[in-house]
Amino acid sequence: MKIIIAGGSGFVGQALEKELLAQQHHVEIISRKTHGNWDSAEGLDPNFILEADVVINLAGAGIADRRWSAERKSEIIQSRVQTTQKWVNLLQRNSRPITFIQASAVGYYGSEIHLPPADEETSPGNDFLSEVCVKWEAPLSSLSNPNVRWCITRFGVVTDAGGGALKKMLPLFRLGFGSAVAPGKQWMNPVSLESVVNVLIQLIHHPEYSGVFNVVQPQNYTAEGFAKQLGRKLNRPVWFPKVPAWLMRLIFGEMADVLVKGRKVKSKRLPSSWFIHPF
Ligand SMILES: NC(=O)c1ccc[n+]([C@@H]2O[C@H](COP(=O)([O-])OP(=O)(O)OC[C@H]3O[C@@H](n4cnc5c(N)ncnc54)[C@H](OP(=O)(O)O)[C@@H]3O)[C@@H](O)[C@H]2O)c1
Repeated sequence: MKIIIAGGSGFVGQALEKELLAQQHHVEIISRKTHGNWDSAEGLDPNFILEADVVINLAGAGIADRRWSAERKSEIIQSRVQTTQKWVNLLQRNSRPITFIQASAVGYYGSEIHLPPADEETSPGNDFLSEVCVKWEAPLSSLSNPNVRWCITRFGVVTDAGGGALKKMLPLFRLGFGSAVAPGKQWMNPVSLESVVNVLIQLIHHPEYSGVFNVVQPQNYTAEGFAKQLGRKLNRPVWFPKVPAWLMRLIFGEMADVLVKGRKVKSKRLPSSWFIHPF
């Protein structure tokens, strides 16, 4: 198959590309480095897209790369809305069958710890990340071309020893100084990188699947539960006091919500056999 991964130069895209190439697919990565600015139309060759069987759009400015100033918040939203809208405009004119998989996040459901678990039918929350996800996904509502099968994949926290949040946590845990962020009861909704890659590939190969999917491991963890499980896996004690939420807020400002809060999210629409456990 001919598969385009937009925003494919990052953590998820690189792992996905490797697996797709191993399965003998033809893969094209679209990145600002090689294809120019997403704000212009340059780099997006309509002929290439006409020949593609699948487009996976992962592009967007990093959520936790920098403090959320007003300017950064706007970049986080615009980098997602503009790229998604661009794909929707291109796909709307497509005359061949094509699968479009659009990344989103479980932040869609808000981050209140005490709300009931969310599944794919749950309404959006009302914090910044909910706003990001709602606006990110909105362009797909105007995608009416019957040639396009579309899926939205709302990822949990993607974990892998080689990247993302887990890579940052591992050195402290290996030294025996691992701990959770207080209060510890916030839900973390991890999903292993292997699971994410497998789910995306399974969605490509199962045309009967379309619409919105939560991509989280069947087993949820609180931040405290995840820290304990990681300590067990590494054979290290987790005795260090929880990192105070006020300290996280002092360092990261509003962005600390990503660590301090978290709603439990379940995947109701995907088979549990598609997930590969992180531990
Ligand atoms: N990793 C997670 O735990 C997680 C959880 C939930 C949702 N997600 C979402 O899933 C997607 C893939 O995740 P990831 O971890 O692979 O992200 P990543 O490593 O940050 O990669 C995202 C890609 O987006 C592109 N990008 C960055 N800034 C951009 C901008 N201003 N405009 C357009 N493109 C930009 C980058 O490509 P170039 O710089 O080469 O253009 C990069 O390859 C992201 O949209 C992310 O928000 C990830």
